[in-house]
Amino acid sequence: MPAMHLKIIQYLKSAEGFVSGEDISRELGVSRSAVWKCIEDLRQEGYKVEAVPHHGYKLAALPDRLIAWEVQHNLGTRKFGCAVHHFAEIGSTMDEAFRLGMSGAPEGTVVAAELQTKGRGRLGRAWVSPGGSGLYFSLLLRPKLSTAEAARLTLLSSVALSEAVEKCSGVSALIKWPNDLLLGGRKLAGILTELRAEVDRVDFAVVGIGLNVNTAHKELPPEATSLKNESGQGYSRVAILQEFLRTFERRYLVLAKQGFGPALEEWRKRSATIGRRVRFEERGHKFEGLATGLADDGGLMVQLDNKQTVKRMAGDVIVELKDKKV
Ligand code: BTN
Repeated sequence: MPAMHLKIIQYLKSAEGFVSGEDISRELGVSRSAVWKCIEDLRQEGYKVEAVPHHGYKLAALPDRLIAWEVQHNLGTRKFGCAVHHFAEIGSTMDEAFRLGMSGAPEGTVVAAELQTKGRGRLGRAWVSPGGSGLYFSLLLRPKLSTAEAARLTLLSSVALSEAVEKCSGVSALIKWPNDLLLGGRKLAGILTELRAEVDRVDFAVVGIGLNVNTAHKELPPEATSLKNESGQGYSRVAILQEFLRTFERRYLVLAKQGFGPALEEWRKRSATIGRRVRFEERGHKFEGLATGLADDGGLMVQLDNKQTVKRMAGDVIVELKDKKV
């Protein structure tokens, strides 16, 4: 957003009540018609600016759009959210973040969209991304991890997302291994991690997050839900994105300094999978068993019905058996 527009928003935000166009133009050293033109632009961006003759302008409401200025305002992170690329409409934020990764964009760069026409999920599935109601973004990371350790990023993201959702809405969403957030047994959010790697070292990673925030039930697949659906209340997508970036940054620094232990511990507390019966297939054979825990590398430990214990890694297809709770 141009500097003049930012200054006007800042001025309106800091004002109590109405401010005259004359005061704004004097303060910022521009003509009154330039002020008026900027205010029109801001309205186009979704800012609700009231104008009353002889009183001036008042900022009545901020847009809940993922524009850089709003996301970065009072964010307080060092790296994450340092650049925010916002799109009203895009195919997939993953592709744009990947492109930015290839062109050397810094770690912490965010690509966010109001609507995705080709949102994608794991295993070639589509991610339904209706306009303005969900949070769809990708985060560029340049971690010092081997490709074998990259699954940690997905688990770290699911912990940070569950924590951020809880802080902003009071809603406790559980984590379904490895990367879904569930609410009332339905899918609230999904996480997709894509890598560019050299031999066994991660060059960069893109973590993509889709969270159904204010999405109406009829716009979602039957197995999905949104925060608004479950709680009857709408939430600010900007506030959730900001909280995610803060939480993720804290956890990412802890990962670098203390290893994966603290995130794993929190993951276990928030798990919807451990203690449930699961099924998976390997080389045409079907296996069933009990999910007993999470290994230190993020793999899911499953005790098979023949009492043998096996480890499954993210990327394997695991089906939780809903009707056989233990
Ligand atoms: C899944 O559960 O399968 C993962 C879904 C990930 C969806 C997000 S939305 C933002 C980013 N852009 C995409 O195309 N996908 C991810």
